[in-house]
Formats: sequence, C-alpha cells, structure tokens
Amino acid sequence: MAKLKLGVLISGRGSNLQALIDATAQPGFPAEITLVISNKADAGGLERAKAAGIATKVIPHKEFANREAFDTALSSTLRNAGVELVCLAGFMRLLTAGFAEDWHDRLINIHPSLLPSFKGLDSHGQALKAGVRFSGCTVHFVRPEMDAGPIILQAAVPVLDGDDEDALAARILEAEHRCYPLAVRLIAEGRIVLENEIVRVKDGRFAGAPLLNPLG
Ligand code: GRF
Repeated sequence: MAKLKLGVLISGRGSNLQALIDATAQPGFPAEITLVISNKADAGGLERAKAAGIATKVIPHKEFANREAFDTALSSTLRNAGVELVCLAGFMRLLTAGFAEDWHDRLINIHPSLLPSFKGLDSHGQALKAGVRFSGCTVHFVRPEMDAGPIILQAAVPVLDGDDEDALAARILEAEHRCYPLAVRLIAEGRIVLENEIVRVKDGRFAGAPLLNPLG
C-alpha cells in the first residue's frame, strides 16, 4: 500500500522530528516524510532531516509581509511536494485560520500537556504551578483556536516531588517521542475516525487500570 506522505514543520531542535524519522525508517511503517520545513535557518532539526536524506526547505517568516502571505507560501510548498498530512513538531508560529482550513483534518500538532489543560507556552511551568499529579502530552488535529482540536492520543506521566520544569519537560518529551509516531501510524492505517469533532479509534484496545500518583 502507498505510504502516507508527511510534511513536518519545525522551528527548533527537532527531537519529535527525529522520532518520526526513526519510526518512518522502520520497515512496514505506513508513512514517509516527504519534506521538512523550518521557518528558521538555524533550526537543529534541519540537520537531522538532512542526515536522514530527507528534503528540507527554509521559509523565513520574516521575509513575508504578514501571516497570511507566509501561510500561503507554506501551504503551496506543502501541496507541491505532495504532502498529505502536515505534522507540527515544535513549530513556533501561530497559523492562520486559512491554513487550518486548507489542511482541515490533515494537520496535527503535539503539545506537552494533557489538553485542554495548560495551553500555550510554558505548559510545564503551568503544570507545576497548578500542582497537578500527572501531566503528559497530547497529539491533536489543529483547529484555528490555539492548542485546540480533536484529541487523537494522549500519554500521562507523573509529576514528582522536586520536579522543576526541565525534569518534567524531559519526562514528557520521552512520552512525546512515543506518541507522535503512534498517532501518525493510526492515521495512516485509517484507524482514526472523527465523529462530531471527537476522535474514535477503530479496533482500539484498552486493558489498563487506573493510575494513581502518589501511590501512598
Ligand atoms: C515539544 O515539547 C512539543 O510538544 C512542543 O515543542 C517541543 C518541540 O521539541 N510543541 P522538539 O523540537 O521536537 O525537540
């Protein structure tokens, strides 16, 4: 079967991109990365893509008069490359409603919290401040509102006594690296179904028990 063609948008170090590169290199993985785009020329993720032999393109947002013009260029570059699913992976630009509509149900993001909690920047600081016992990550379809949209997959990690933002971020990042490839796999396998903006997973199985933190 033909592999789903991914376009990955980054702005920085690209560890989630790396997780996708590693997953797509596995035989039988149902998706492949066609193009990596960064809005920043110095994004570390560009080197990761090049090392894997994946096409890259830098589209500096500063060269465009406004968000609409930038997003239009982004959209046509993705379309011309034959991209079928756009994965935001640490892409630090707010996208216009027009872009979200162009790629409706074909645009996903990973966010380092259990949405709808702790949207926006500094989600780790927000989680620590709220004193939650669990945080985690969320992969979701993108809608025009920031960090909103149907939730595809989440992973929870404990927040431990003594955690600072770096410790919590590192624990969540490990979960992110497992979640993003899994979400892409589920989509590529056609197992993600949207019903009234709620995601159903076809043939999903759950055999878990409640998680408690602290166990006491
Ligand atoms: C990740 O924490 C992701 O959830 C958020 O930005 C960070 C990107 O990290 N959207 P990386 O560039 O993938 O390492």
